[in-house]
Amino acid sequence: MKKLVISTGAGMSAESGIATFRDAGGLWEKYPVMDVASADGFARNPALIHRFYNERRHDLVKAQPNAGHRAIVELEKHFQVYVITQNVDDLHERAGSRNVLHLHGELMKVRALDDESRVYSLPQALEGSEDPLSTTVDTVIQGHHVRPHIVFFQEAVPNFEPAVQLVEEADIFVVIGTSLNVYPAAALLHYVRRGVPVYYIDPNPASVPANVHVIRAGASEGMAELSRILLQNP
Ligand code: APR
Repeated sequence: MKKLVISTGAGMSAESGIATFRDAGGLWEKYPVMDVASADGFARNPALIHRFYNERRHDLVKAQPNAGHRAIVELEKHFQVYVITQNVDDLHERAGSRNVLHLHGELMKVRALDDESRVYSLPQALEGSEDPLSTTVDTVIQGHHVRPHIVFFQEAVPNFEPAVQLVEEADIFVVIGTSLNVYPAAALLHYVRRGVPVYYIDPNPASVPANVHVIRAGASEGMAELSRILLQNP
């Protein structure tokens, strides 16, 4: 089976009702990004950052995977599918994707401040508390104070190397729903081997090299079109 590697951004979850970052009305219009998603911001006001991610967790549990997420799972019948996502939501996993690599962390997880290898899943880790989806600066899990398991701006992206390896081994590479604004994620496009077909699904696509096959559509419609194309020659 051919290896199909799919890199997704916030647009992948837009049809599930999760706000993107840079579209009109996006998250970064409402919140100053460096206050709520940077290492300096966390040092300056950790309580604000706990609140920001608590709010996003409460929104996420009300959201459902969309037809685009499900179309990616469907392709697992014909390809070895690997998802690399900039998204911190768990919608790919909840749709049934089995190989998901998060570049920017995971919203439903927190980790010990003093030992980044100690990662805890919510709500399980706070079961029995008044609000098991929310943390504060005073939250303690197994004796450790915690922080969101999110890669803040100004922090390293530990999963980038494994992501590059996946892209270098891809027989087909697909990019869905990202403005290609944020590095190193945006650079993945340039790691495909020569001759490997690249597709980009986005209703308002960023400029990409001429050899990229752009499908100007939303994730669900675009994935339906892409599946038709790929299943002609699985
Ligand atoms: N289907 C597919 N794509 C869509 C849809 C949709 N229904 N609606 C919007 N889009 C596209 C937009 O056209 C845009 O290209 O999704 C993209 C969203 O871009 P951003 O908001 O910049 O999100 P993203 O590229 O994922 O941001 C990257 O920036 O702030 C950081 O860590 C954050 O992971 C995020 C990173």
